[in-house]
Amino acid sequence: MLVVLLKREGYEATAVASGEQALAELEQHPYDVVLSDIRMPKLGGLELVDEIRKRKIQTTIILMSAFGNIDVAIEAMKRGAYDYVSKPFRPDEVVLVLKKAEERERLFRENAALKQQLAKASQSGERGLSSMIARGPRMQEIFRTIKKIAEYKTTVLITGESGTGKELVARAVHEQSPRVNGPFVAVNCGAIPETLLESELFGHKKGSFTDAIRDKKGLFEEANGGTLFLDEIGEMPLGPQVKLLRVLQEHVVRPIGAVEDQKVDVRLVAATVRDLPTEVREGRFREDLFYRLNVITIQLPPLRDRREDIPLLVEHFLGRTNLKLGTSIDGASAETMKFLMDYRWPGNVRELENTIERAMVLCDGKRIEADGLPEKLRESRDRVRLSLQSGELSIKKTTRIIEEELIRKALRETRGNRTNASKILEISHRALLYKIKEYLIDDL
Ligand SMILES: Nc1ncnc2c1ncn2[C@@H]1O[C@H](COP(=O)(O)OP(=O)(O)OP(=O)(O)O)[C@@H](O)[C@H]1O
Ligand SMILES: [Mg+2]
Repeated sequence: MLVVLLKREGYEATAVASGEQALAELEQHPYDVVLSDIRMPKLGGLELVDEIRKRKIQTTIILMSAFGNIDVAIEAMKRGAYDYVSKPFRPDEVVLVLKKAEERERLFRENAALKQQLAKASQSGERGLSSMIARGPRMQEIFRTIKKIAEYKTTVLITGESGTGKELVARAVHEQSPRVNGPFVAVNCGAIPETLLESELFGHKKGSFTDAIRDKKGLFEEANGGTLFLDEIGEMPLGPQVKLLRVLQEHVVRPIGAVEDQKVDVRLVAATVRDLPTEVREGRFREDLFYRLNVITIQLPPLRDRREDIPLLVEHFLGRTNLKLGTSIDGASAETMKFLMDYRWPGNVRELENTIERAMVLCDGKRIEADGLPEKLRESRDRVRLSLQSGELSIKKTTRIIEEELIRKALRETRGNRTNASKILEISHRALLYKIKEYLIDDL
């Protein structure tokens, strides 16, 4: 009767005749919930709870207890059962308990995911650097630099390709500094037209130009007591550069149309993807400003030069995106991981982040799979080319890469049929199996 009822409610249900059979079934298949009587011949409900726990079977146990058995039911809950319903019960009572258990499971999973996130965040660094993930020595060195310089007011210049984490570093500098309770103001110098940039940065007085209908505070003033982050400073036109230089030299700003200077206490952090020395040489960036900015430079390496960080970053983005999407994807297949490790990542960490999210949306299992990756990542040419360009001269190493790629390609073409693949590859079936194992080709 219960099975009929549960099926009508949309559950999949299996009935067994005894506690022993329940255990055997649980060993074979995963079940979300076990609904069990208490009084049963041989293995009773209480013992069943104990056995399930002992065998570390993950499931929620709900007991059905006849009147007079409530004490046993409570004892069972002490030993790990989730709840009980007393007999006789109405159908909706059972459904209600099941719904409650489902809700608990969901919260439980969510909670576990959050805890994992937290643990990871705190494990990866101290306060302020916590949102940045890095394992490799180059990023560790950068963390140390940030901590060392944060307490001073010195200007910091951050350089690095697009998506390497320049803005994160700028924030970390602010968060590690004594100014942490002051404002952090970010401005993208490349996104504001030249005519507006000066008034944005330094402010203006009412009537100083046609559109100046009231006094406007500049960003320097907004950032007073805190940090001003000048993003894409390489895009700043020469006009504003002159004014910026003056602020850096004299620690005062003068709003457009004002007659007096204002003192400001601002720590400047600037970032650019451009190579400023080149910009200086070609007359697009003032040399004197460059020297003012270039007191401490943090150079963020491109992701392809710190591949050792990729696995940790993948894990980080999986966790974060799980929370965002409400999914519980907990890893990447070995093949996917290989593609991620081998790709050149021109868009660096940001591109990796987007790639993971895309793969997660396309994934319908527990792990992200290679077919959720964009075509360009799966192009194996990259690996072969990479190896040829790397200056590697070992025939042995390079041959292995080519061999692995050929095997993957053959398996893809034959949709995983190893007999056919071995024929195309002109090697024996046994040799193929051996190599599949050797190269960890576990999934296609
Ligand atoms: N070490 C890291 N750990 C975790 N997330 C990172 C890391 N580095 C970068 N990211 C993430 O990658 C993305 C790009 O980072 P950020 O915006 O700081 O890069 P950027 O260098 O300023 O890029 P752009 O030059 O394109 O503005 C962000 O979503 C950021 O959270
Ligand atoms: Mg940026």
